Amino acid sequence: MNSATASAPGRVNLIGEHLDYNGGLCLPIAIDRRTSATVRRAAVSRRSSDVEPAGWTGYVEGVLAALAVDEPLDVAVSSTVPVGAGLSSSAALTCSVAVAVDALLGLGLDRDALAAACIRAENEHVGVPTGGMDQAAALYGAVGHALLLDFSAGSRTLVPFDPAGAGLDLLVVDTGVAHRLASSGYSDRRADCERAAAVLGLEHLAAATYEQLADLPEERLRRRARHVVTEQYRVRSFVAALQQSDWSEVGDLMTASHLSLRDDFEVSCPELDLVVTSALAAGALGARLTGGGFGGSAVVLCHADQRAGVSGRIIAEFARHARNAPTLYRVEASSAAAQVS
Ligand code: GLA
Repeated sequence: MNSATASAPGRVNLIGEHLDYNGGLCLPIAIDRRTSATVRRAAVSRRSSDVEPAGWTGYVEGVLAALAVDEPLDVAVSSTVPVGAGLSSSAALTCSVAVAVDALLGLGLDRDALAAACIRAENEHVGVPTGGMDQAAALYGAVGHALLLDFSAGSRTLVPFDPAGAGLDLLVVDTGVAHRLASSGYSDRRADCERAAAVLGLEHLAAATYEQLADLPEERLRRRARHVVTEQYRVRSFVAALQQSDWSEVGDLMTASHLSLRDDFEVSCPELDLVVTSALAAGALGARLTGGGFGGSAVVLCHADQRAGVSGRIIAEFARHARNAPTLYRVEASSAAAQVS
C-alpha cells in the first residue's frame, strides 16, 4: 500500500461541558462535518516547517511523534469542519491522520491507543491541555447515537439520539468569535477545578457532592465546583429524558447547562448568550454553548417547522447587537473516524 485515506468527524457536545478532565460524564455526538487525511510514503524527508509555518501541521507532527513514526510521510488534508468554531476541528484532524497512518504502516493499533496518541499530540506537542472528549467522539461516535462517556469509570455507552425522528432540528450556530483553547481561560478553569478537588481531598471534582461545596474556602472555587456537580447531575437527567423521548426536558437541561457555564464556570461570551436568548425567544426548546466556550458555537434544539423563525431571529439579533454575522446549519449524529481507501 502506497497511500491510505481516512476521515474523522467534528463533534457537538450535547451536555456535560468541562467534565472530561474532572472525571465526569459527557454526551457528545460525532457530526456530519469531516476532515479527510491522505498519507503517503514520501521520497524525501523534509520538515513540515519547510512547507508552511506552524499551524495545523503541528497537530500532524504531534500524531506522528506520538505514534513513533520515523519514516518520511506526505500528508494531505481537506476538511469541512470549520476551524475555531469549537467543533473540534483539531480532533478531526489528529484522528483522521492517526487512522490513516495506522492503516498505511500496518500498526494494528486499537481505537483506545489511537485516542491516546491524539490526546498526547495535543497535550504534549501543541501544548493544549484538552481532556479527551473530542478524540473519543471522533473515534467512537455513531450514526443516530450520542456517546455517553464516563471519565471516572472509563466507560462508553451509545445512547439513541434521533431528534429528526421527533420532528426536531439540532442547529449549530457559529458565533464567528474564534475559539482558541490555547489562549483562552481553559487552563485556568482546569487549574481551579484541580485546586477545588485537592481541597476536598478528591481525585476528581465530579465526585464531589453538592453538600461539599460549602467546604470550599473561596467563592470562585465554589462556583466552578457548583457547575461541575450540577452538570454531572444534568447529564444523567438528559440521558433519562432521551430514553423517555421527553424532548422538552432535554431542551430545558441544555438551557440550564448554558446558564451554569455562563454564571458559575464563566466560559460564555456575549455572542453565545445572544444565540441562547434569541433562540429561546423564538420558541426553541433549548440552547447552550458547546465545547470549551470563550467563543465558538452554540447548539440549538427546535421544532423543524420553527427552524426558519429561530434562525431568522438569531440573525436579526446579531445584526442589532453584534459586530459579526453568525453561521447556522443543521447537524446530525454521524459516524466515527474510518479508513476510506
Ligand atoms: C474542549 C476540550 C475538551 C473539553 C471541552 C469542554 O473541547 O478539548 O476536552 O474539555 O473543551 O467540555
